[in-house]
Amino acid sequence: MDTTVMFVVSLTAAFVLTSATGSQPSWRQVNKVKLLGFDWENCGKPDAAAVMRTLMVSPDPISIPGEVTAAASGTTSVELAAPLGVNVTLEKEVAGFWVKVPCLEEMGSCHYSDACDVLDQLIPPGQDCPEPLHTYGLPCRCPFKPGSYSLPESDFFLPHMDLPSWLTNGHYRLHGVLGSEEEELGCLKVALSVSSD
Ligand SMILES: *[C@@H]1O[C@H](CO)[C@@H](O)[C@H](O)[C@H]1NC(C)=O
Repeated sequence: MDTTVMFVVSLTAAFVLTSATGSQPSWRQVNKVKLLGFDWENCGKPDAAAVMRTLMVSPDPISIPGEVTAAASGTTSVELAAPLGVNVTLEKEVAGFWVKVPCLEEMGSCHYSDACDVLDQLIPPGQDCPEPLHTYGLPCRCPFKPGSYSLPESDFFLPHMDLPSWLTNGHYRLHGVLGSEEEELGCLKVALSVSSD
């Protein structure tokens, strides 16, 4: 699998895990969330092992709750196996400056020591991968063999959700580095804006 999918999955995992362990951050009830201006780029070295090739998300804005369409493809030249570290830096624009959001209860700018472990907790080994991964025969647990992975255009329904209280309206950018034993395997940047009411 590619780096973006890993980030999204590990962030989702962090949400799920914090609510499961009862150490909930304070949540903000919102009726509707809009994600605007989604953009992404690779930030790894030219010879990075794991590279996102394409990533398409629509519509713009994305409404939550609502439907989202996504397609992605990526390659990895090495096997992605445990321990697979992910370092996330999340920044918010405040009065024209980018300010780092700290790691608060597994969300924000956090270091995840092993994304494989997070995936195993989310999708217990032996269980089928969630749709649409299952349909396309895409893996959802480590190890990910070297090769190309492609998710054709797929529709998802994003259910109603509350936001962590620090996730206020504004522009955000996220920088994620995937690594194994001190070696950088891939890097991805994502930008988007959050608007809720
Ligand atoms: C994450 O950051 C820590 C501390 O700076 C560093 O030791 C580790 O190698 C980094 N991991 C990745 C995947 O970049």
